[in-house]
Amino acid sequence: MKSMRNTLAAGALLGALALPVLAQADPCRVEISGNDMMQYDKQQLSVPATCKEITVTLHHVGKQPREVMGHDWVLVGTADMAAVDQAGLAAGLANNYVQPGDKRVLAHTKVIGGGESTSVTFPASLLKKGGDYSYLCTFPGHSALMHGKFSFG
Ligand code: CO
Repeated sequence: MKSMRNTLAAGALLGALALPVLAQADPCRVEISGNDMMQYDKQQLSVPATCKEITVTLHHVGKQPREVMGHDWVLVGTADMAAVDQAGLAAGLANNYVQPGDKRVLAHTKVIGGGESTSVTFPASLLKKGGDYSYLCTFPGHSALMHGKFSFG
């Protein structure tokens, strides 16, 4: 009984210590970077299904301009990835390589160049818990390397 009480006390102490850290790192806000090597720094992003709103911030840590090595972050159902990429190609840079009004696009940032950052915030109600989602860069020729899984829940 005594050891159990000690365990509980230790648990409470750990909880108290952990709280300020958790308060700083909002799990509903995630970050990802792209570089001049046509790479994201993460192959997976995860947010808990308890999020009401999700914010993704994209950083371009390279030096190349957006016309040459532009990056965006586009969230789709995995099955729609190729079609959305193709439609984005036709839409061009003026549309951030996303076809205007494309219902398959769940969320997307604009295309940015080296040294820039951008964010997108979208309601989690667009997603189903445990659904199969992916993100990609729709800049021409990038998605083969620049894509990853997005898990919700
Ligand atoms: Co890119």
